[in-house]
Amino acid sequence: MEITLDGAMAALRKVMDPELHRDLVSLGMVKELTVQGGVASLEVELTTPACPLKDTIAKDVEGALRAAGATRVELRFGARVRAAPGVAQSSLTPGVKNIVLVGAGKGGVGKSTVTINLALSLARAGAKVGVLDADIYGPSLPLLTGVTERPRTVEGNRLDPIEAHGLKLMSIGFLVDPDQAMIWRGPMVTGALLQLLRDVNWGELDYLLLDLPPGTGDVPLTLAQNVKAAGVVLVSTPQDMALADVIRAKLMFDKVGIPVLGIVENMSSFICPHCRGETPIFDHGGARIAAERMGIRFLGEIPLDLAVRQGGDAGVPVVEALPDGPQAKAFIAMAGQVAGAISVQVMKAPRLPVIGSQPRA
Ligand SMILES: Nc1ncnc2c1ncn2[C@@H]1O[C@H](COP(=O)(O)OP(=O)(O)OP(=O)(O)O)[C@@H](O)[C@H]1O
Ligand SMILES: [Mg+2]
Ligand SMILES: [Zn+2]
Repeated sequence: MEITLDGAMAALRKVMDPELHRDLVSLGMVKELTVQGGVASLEVELTTPACPLKDTIAKDVEGALRAAGATRVELRFGARVRAAPGVAQSSLTPGVKNIVLVGAGKGGVGKSTVTINLALSLARAGAKVGVLDADIYGPSLPLLTGVTERPRTVEGNRLDPIEAHGLKLMSIGFLVDPDQAMIWRGPMVTGALLQLLRDVNWGELDYLLLDLPPGTGDVPLTLAQNVKAAGVVLVSTPQDMALADVIRAKLMFDKVGIPVLGIVENMSSFICPHCRGETPIFDHGGARIAAERMGIRFLGEIPLDLAVRQGGDAGVPVVEALPDGPQAKAFIAMAGQVAGAISVQVMKAPRLPVIGSQPRA
C-alpha cells in the first residue's frame, strides 16, 4: 500500500517528542509535508537547535512513515526557539525569547565559566545568544571573553552590546572601573542591573543568559520582580558544602517563583592533562543525587580540567578554543539538556507561543 498524505499525517501523530511527551503534529513541529510516489518529505521544526534528541526523533519519524508505506523518507530539521506566551512582548527585553539565569548560592563554583561555555555551545548549535554579566561587584565577562573594547552609546543613553565570539555581551566591567562599582550600594547595583537589561540593544535573541553573583542577595529578587525568566540553572561542585548552598538556592528560587531548570555538577572529576586519568578530587556524583532528592533535572557534569581554567583566563573559553575536545563535549551535552529543559518549561505554558515569524501551515 503506497503512503498517502493522510496516512503520513496519521503516522506522525503517533510520533512523540521524547522530551515534551506530545506528538509532533499537535506540537506544530511538522512542516512542508509532501508525499509523492512513495516518498515522504518533511521538515521537523525543533523547539531548539541544540536539541539533544534529534537522532531519536529522526529514527522515530522514519520508522513511522515507513510503517505507513513510505519507501523513502526525506527528513530535514529546522528550529524555532519558542517563548512562553506574552514573555517577550511585555518584558524589559522585547526581542529576547528566553532569559536564563545561571547561579547558585556558593562563590567560585564555576557559574561564570558554565555561563560562557553554555552560551557558546548554544550559539554553535545555531541559536542567537547573549550573555549579561549580572555580577555588578565582581564582573567576570571582561576576563572570560578578553573584551577590552567599550560598548557604543547610541540613541541617547542606549548601549549596543559587544559582539564577540558569536555572542552579544554586556558587563558593568565593560563600562566602569571595577573598583568604582565595588563602592556602590545595593539600590545602585540593582538599578545598574535593570539598566543593563533594559537599555541595551539586545535585539532578537533566542537565549539571554544571566551570570549571577554568588549568594542569595538582592539580585535574584530584583530579577524575579522585573523579568519573566524561563528558569535558572544551578551550578554546584560535588562537595556537601556546595550542595547545601544549592539546596538553599533552590528554595529561594522556588519562593520567588523562578523555575529551577536543573543542576550542573562542575569540577566533577579531575582529568589529568598528562594521562587523561580521572580523579574525583571534590568527590563525584553528589549533584546527581541532590537533583534526584530535590526532584529537579540533572543537567550534566563538567570535569575539573586545566584547559577549562586556561580558556577562562585567556579570554577564549574552552568550547571555542578546543571545540572537539572532551571538555567542549561535556559543555555541549549540558547545553542540550539546558535547552531541552527550557523547551519543556516554555511548552508547559497554556498556549503554543509564536514570536516573530508565523509558523507555516
Ligand atoms: N571545570 C573547571 N575546570 C577547571 N577550572 C575551572 C572549572 N570551572 C571553573 N574553573 C575555574 O575556577 C575559577 C572560578 O570559576 P568562575 O569564575 O566561573 O566561578 P564563579 O562561580 O562564577 O565565581 P564567583 O562566585 O566569584 O562569581 C576560575 O578560575 C575558573 O577558570
Ligand atoms: Mg562568577
Ligand atoms: Zn596523569
